[in-house]
Amino acid sequence: MSLKEKLIKDKLPNHVAIIMDGNGRWAIRKGAARIFGHQNGVTPVDDVVKASAELGIKFVTLYAFSTENWGRPLEEIDALMGLLVSTIKKETKKLLENNIRLLTIGDLTKLPENTRRELNQLVQATSANTGLTVILALSYSSRHEIILAARKIIQDAIAGKLLPEEMNPELFESYLQTAGIPDPELLIRTSGEYRISNFLLYQSAYTELYFTSKLWPDFRAEDYYEALLDYQNRERRFGKTSEQL
Ligand code: FPP
Repeated sequence: MSLKEKLIKDKLPNHVAIIMDGNGRWAIRKGAARIFGHQNGVTPVDDVVKASAELGIKFVTLYAFSTENWGRPLEEIDALMGLLVSTIKKETKKLLENNIRLLTIGDLTKLPENTRRELNQLVQATSANTGLTVILALSYSSRHEIILAARKIIQDAIAGKLLPEEMNPELFESYLQTAGIPDPELLIRTSGEYRISNFLLYQSAYTELYFTSKLWPDFRAEDYYEALLDYQNRERRFGKTSEQL
């Protein structure tokens, strides 16, 4: 029985978040420039998107570029932005054909003009699609997202649109960039690092974490199925006891 066949259809997560890590190390081990690792990071993105769509998973969030990544050498940033645009252009047809919707979270104003334009066009073009939603976290920082939400909440309170006692988790979530997107049930991080690195901090309060030593360019559909199988064997208690479930 293949890993895919072992998956229990009605126990799949609705939303999977992924920290795609290890591109640089993968390239360096091969004696190549770091960008070679990013270029080879596109195939696993394809694999995960395809597998998610086939399995009926509704949301996949990919951490493609963090706010902290702006501190990298300019050459690497430029190459990554170029890769993003060329990938978007190449993938547009596939996304449309497969009813996939693209969304972004993060501060897109920091991206180069053409990258932002291409992204916005694809978000627009796929906005009516009803299958899988792929959310690209770009120039994203979860702390910044929370601070922006706090600012907006204060502004609304000052403007008399909001009373302090009205604030609750649902209302707070509506101020986050992920408003309307359910919390991820599973978060995968590749490359053997055991950190959340400023990714979906509020949203991952009850998320199951899965770490693999595989470097992102080596991650394939089979590795994804393995993570999903591992998730299916977890007992999600949300603070309750096993007996209460
Ligand atoms: C982390 O590896 C990866 C990134 C910062 C970029 C991720 C980008 C891609 C996978 C390219 C394709 C993406 C899309 C959405 C088309 P790292 O550079 O931090 O690796 P290291 O920790 O080994 O240095």
